[in-house]
Amino acid sequence: MDSETTFRVASPADWQAIIAIYNQGIDDGYCNAFTSHLSVEGHRHWLQIHDGVEYAIFVAEVDHTVVGWCSLSPYRIDRQAFRTIGEISYYFDRAYRGKGIGYRLAAHAIELAPEYNLHTLLAFLLDINKVSVNLLEKLGFIRWGHFPDIATVRGTICGQFIYGKNLASLPGPAAGIKEGPNWGRW
Ligand SMILES: CC(C)(COP(=O)(O)OP(=O)(O)OC[C@H]1O[C@@H](n2cnc3c(N)ncnc32)[C@H](O)[C@@H]1OP(=O)(O)O)[C@@H](O)C(=O)NCCC(=O)NCCS
Repeated sequence: MDSETTFRVASPADWQAIIAIYNQGIDDGYCNAFTSHLSVEGHRHWLQIHDGVEYAIFVAEVDHTVVGWCSLSPYRIDRQAFRTIGEISYYFDRAYRGKGIGYRLAAHAIELAPEYNLHTLLAFLLDINKVSVNLLEKLGFIRWGHFPDIATVRGTICGQFIYGKNLASLPGPAAGIKEGPNWGRW
């Protein structure tokens, strides 16, 4: 029987799986600037902010098992002028990478971003993460910045890229945004 892949907004029941997949990326050593494992408890605030109302984590399920996620997160949430900017991140279980699901899930999140009042998306990534660079460029992101040699990951010095994508051509309200419950918490 063919595997079925579905996308949906994450709920707290997915938090363990999300963190376990995040930790695989940390173990890989080139994916992000964390150098030790995360826990649901330690990352609870970040998880709670993605309540599916203001911000969201989208999960990909294969045969009802979470195999990857893509988040739309706040960017400098206490600066009102940045309210329509979101940060995108994505992580997949190693066994499910390279199968085209990561691209489809990220494209899905980008399509829904205007519903979260996000008109610009930013991605922050280590400049040694070639897979992420390729994915972002395939998704139409443009390299907007580079901080050279600012991180030490497992003894290797590397930089950080900022990629951006302006969604202004997509529908979605730009004005009249009300403050939500998470404002000012970061
Ligand atoms: C980044 C990630 C989410 C991409 O998801 P994926 O399902 O593996 O990617 P896809 O199979 O959908 O491929 C999408 C594009 O990504 C790029 N890509 C994927 N795997 C790649 C690889 N091994 N080498 C180089 N580029 C790759 C390609 O541009 C690919 O498009 P193409 O197939 O037309 O060439 C996934 O590989 C992952 O979890 N990586 C580790 C975590 C990570 O680095 N997260 C980002 C932190 S900034």
